[in-house]
Amino acid sequence: MAHTVSDLAALVRERQPCVVLTGAGISTESGVPDFRSPSGIWAKYDPMEYATITAFRRDPVKVWEFYALRFELLTAAEPNPGHLALAELERRGLVTAVVTQNIDGLHTRAGSHAVVEVHGSIRSASCLDCGERVPLEEVIAALRDSPAPPCPQCGAVLKPDVVMFGELLPALAIDRAIELARLAGLLLVVGSSLEVHPVAGLTGETVSAGGALAIVNRGQTPFDRLASVRIDGGAGATLSALAEALA
Ligand code: APR
Ligand code: ZN
Repeated sequence: MAHTVSDLAALVRERQPCVVLTGAGISTESGVPDFRSPSGIWAKYDPMEYATITAFRRDPVKVWEFYALRFELLTAAEPNPGHLALAELERRGLVTAVVTQNIDGLHTRAGSHAVVEVHGSIRSASCLDCGERVPLEEVIAALRDSPAPPCPQCGAVLKPDVVMFGELLPALAIDRAIELARLAGLLLVVGSSLEVHPVAGLTGETVSAGGALAIVNRGQTPFDRLASVRIDGGAGATLSALAEALA
């Protein structure tokens, strides 16, 4: 049975508090490609060569070439109606927090305050040897002079503060995300294939704690059968219509 935005609006009203979990699909309308769509990043780049901590240690310059391209795209991107609708729903007290897998910082720039970045962000890069943390602007400046930015303290190659495959998620962020999923009356997933763990497991945290799951996504996810409401549609249009329906 195809669900409508008014089904989703009723669920948001009835099953507070509502926590939102977003993936790359909410940022494609800002011009940032996602990962697993046919036109996604992993169709062009092998994640095993560019997105694992082993690949980074083996060839940091190659991984930085990949991230330098992504930094250009990500810093040029602007929040889209999907991000803005979630910020509006937070202002109205209808969304408690956004847990995001995205590293683009667009939720914060859209005006959302309670944002949990479980896969880190491009906002800074850190030194694996001495722990020095360098803000994005300095990293971009350093990338003009060298293909892999050196640590200003000890000279080792900096690593983007994004979670690579084979790395643990930032403990504070994933613990907070699990706490939010457990207290959520509704976990609303937007624009994620829910293929990557442990984040995909947040859906089970909510449902096993008695909460409901809703999914707004183009294409299937492995958790569709757990969803009380599932809308196969664009994030921007659907979230704008949702904010409208809840006005
Ligand atoms: N509206 C709705 N859904 C969309 C839109 C859109 N405008 N654009 C894309 N989608 C859907 C795609 O069809 C896909 O199902 O969003 C989903 C995005 O899934 P992925 O590309 O797998 O992105 P995500 O779920 O965020 O990936 C999780 O994988 O590679 C790692 O660390 C990376 O954080 C990322 C994680
Ligand atoms: Zn260092």
